[in-house]
Formats: sequence, structure tokens, C-alpha cells
Amino acid sequence: MKIENKSMRPIWLDKDSRIVKVIDQRLLPHEFVISDLRSVDDVINAIKEMFVRGAPLVGVAGAYGVYLAVINFDEKTGFDDFLINECNRLKAARPTAVNLSWGVDRVMYELLKITSQPARIDRARDEAANIADEEAENCRRIGENGLPLIDEIWIKKGGETVNILTHCNAGWLACVEYGTATAPIYAAYENDIDIHVWVDETRPLNQGARLTAWELGKHGVKHTVITDNAGGHLMQHGMVDMVIVGTDRTTCTGDVANKIGTYLKALAARDNNIPFYVALPSSTFDWELDDGIRGIPIEERDPDEVRYVQGLDHGSIRSVLIPPASSPAANFAFDVTPARLVTGFITERGICRATKQDIKRLFPEKMIQ
Ligand code: MRU
Repeated sequence: MKIENKSMRPIWLDKDSRIVKVIDQRLLPHEFVISDLRSVDDVINAIKEMFVRGAPLVGVAGAYGVYLAVINFDEKTGFDDFLINECNRLKAARPTAVNLSWGVDRVMYELLKITSQPARIDRARDEAANIADEEAENCRRIGENGLPLIDEIWIKKGGETVNILTHCNAGWLACVEYGTATAPIYAAYENDIDIHVWVDETRPLNQGARLTAWELGKHGVKHTVITDNAGGHLMQHGMVDMVIVGTDRTTCTGDVANKIGTYLKALAARDNNIPFYVALPSSTFDWELDDGIRGIPIEERDPDEVRYVQGLDHGSIRSVLIPPASSPAANFAFDVTPARLVTGFITERGICRATKQDIKRLFPEKMIQ
């Protein structure tokens, strides 16, 4: 996507191929800072602390983490043991998004077949770059496949504004390019469909208010930031035509883990007969899991993310404490929306209902049984 007329991704490899560059998403929208990652530890820290975040992007970051592991291999131990250990450390950085282990494993399995160090380096770099390019292309296709859904509503409304609600940031910052939930929105915008996006602020880290609003604003898409609890009210008053969200892990039966609060949006959407779509690349399906509520690990993050709110104060980014200093807080980062509340999935291969049979129809070669 373009920042000040320059095409940009949230992650790339530096010219000399020794440093992975990332946009530090903790500081947006108020400061635009690029960070350098030189080692596996740097990548783990960037994923844990959310310099990089969003399911497809953590998959790409994990893949580049494996590349950094390989270029830093000092030959003191056997390569396979070293590699497997570094990959396990990377995969443990954040538990919910399945893309992380998918991206790490994909590069790791390629490398376990190779014995020469220079060949390993080339393979790791190329495979990480392939993953980044494929995820960008998958998101482009998600946009193409989701566009008719928005177009249909627009036609039904006689050309009146289509109002879409989204939660968290499932935009290009989270995904290399286009985004997942935002891809159909950008496609609709490019096709001159009159759209407006309700952006859930997404407490505690405000990925909606900080990142989605920034992205949409840069692109020129009309949007309004709302509190996380406003969605139900807007739906009851006919102010939301559809919901599109991303996901961090979706079971092969259609249960969807996404940022905390997504489930409540799905319940409100069902109560108000509003379509609730989940946009995802195939790398976000967990082909081994049937039961999302029992099976998907839900990350619990530092309670201070709930207790403190970060924002701009007279030109500097500051954090302020909200509850009484002695009050404990809990920080469940994701929830699971059961398949029955999902109208459909928008994927790179098309749209399907949230059932095992329909997912299998689109991805027959991935389904284990
Ligand atoms: O904790 P985050 O910011 O990494 O959570 C991200 C989300 O919940 C996104 O909605 C999800 O990764 C889909 S990204 C296309």
C-alpha cells in the first residue's frame, strides 16, 4: 500500500539481506518508526510486543525469523537440532494465530532437506519471500471474491451508502498487502461503491482506532471510530449492512478465533439479521482442529494493557492509568465465535459457508478427514 506515495509493506528484507525491517505498529498512528530485526530474539520480541501483529503478518515474520536463525547459525551444534529449537522458540511467541506456526514450519521443513549452509540461506530467504508474496496475492483475491457481496447490498440499497462494521485491524498492516477484512472494502472503494466503515476501537490496544482508522484514512475510505460496545445499537437502528472481520485461527469446522469482542458482534449481528462474514487466507485455517471453543489456545496478555491507555499528549505518546491502582485486571486477547453465527468465509478461492463440508469443497487437499 502507499504511504506518502511510496509503496510499502509492513515487513521487508533490507538491501544487504541481513536485517528484517518492520513498521513498529505499537506507535501508529502518531509516530511512524521502522525497526530493525537482526536475530531470532529480535523477531520473538517484535511478535510478543506487537511491533508486528495480525495473523498473516506474524506468519511472515516467523518465516523471516527462521531465515535470521539460519544466517546466524554458528555451527557449534548440529544444524537440525539448532533449527528445530529456534523454530520452537519462534512458534511460542504468540499462541492463538495459527499462521505463526504455519509460516515457521513451512520454512523449517524446506531447510531440513538441505545440507549446505549457503543453500540453506538462499532457500530460507526465498521461502520467506514467497510466503510474503503469496499472502499478498491471497489478500488481493479475498478482495476480488468479497467485492460482489458489497456490490449486491449497494444495488439493493439503490446506490445508498453501504455501512460495514469491522473489529480490530485486519488491514494491510496485519497482512502484507490489502488486508483480509479490508480487502473487499478497498475493492469496493476502487470500484466507486459508496461505502462507510464503522471501526470498533478494539480495546485494550485499540488496533481499530489506531491502525484501521489510519489505514482507511490514508486510502480515502469514509470511516467512523466507535466504542466497542456501540455495534449492537447501530445494528438495531439499521446503521450496519454487514460485518466483516479477520481471524487468527479458524477450525476446519468453521469456529472463528479473532480479537476479543468479535463474538459479541456476531451475536448482535445474528439478532439483527445482519450478515457476518469472516475474511481469511487458507493459512489461517487449522486443519487439525474441530472444536474452536475447547481447542483454540486463547492468549492472555499483560493486564497492564487493560489498566493503561496509550495516546498522544501534547505531541508525545504517553500511557495513563484508568482503574484504581490497586484493581486487578484480566486481558483475554481473543474469543471464539461458533460457526453457527458466521454467514460465510471469504477466502482466496471464493466464498463458502462455515461448515466442514463447504470448507472442504474449497480446500479439498488440505482437509485431513
Ligand atoms: O492481537 P492482534 O492485533 O495480533 O490481533 C489481530 C486480530 O485479531 C486480527 O483481526 C486478525 O489477526 C486477523 S488479521 C488479518
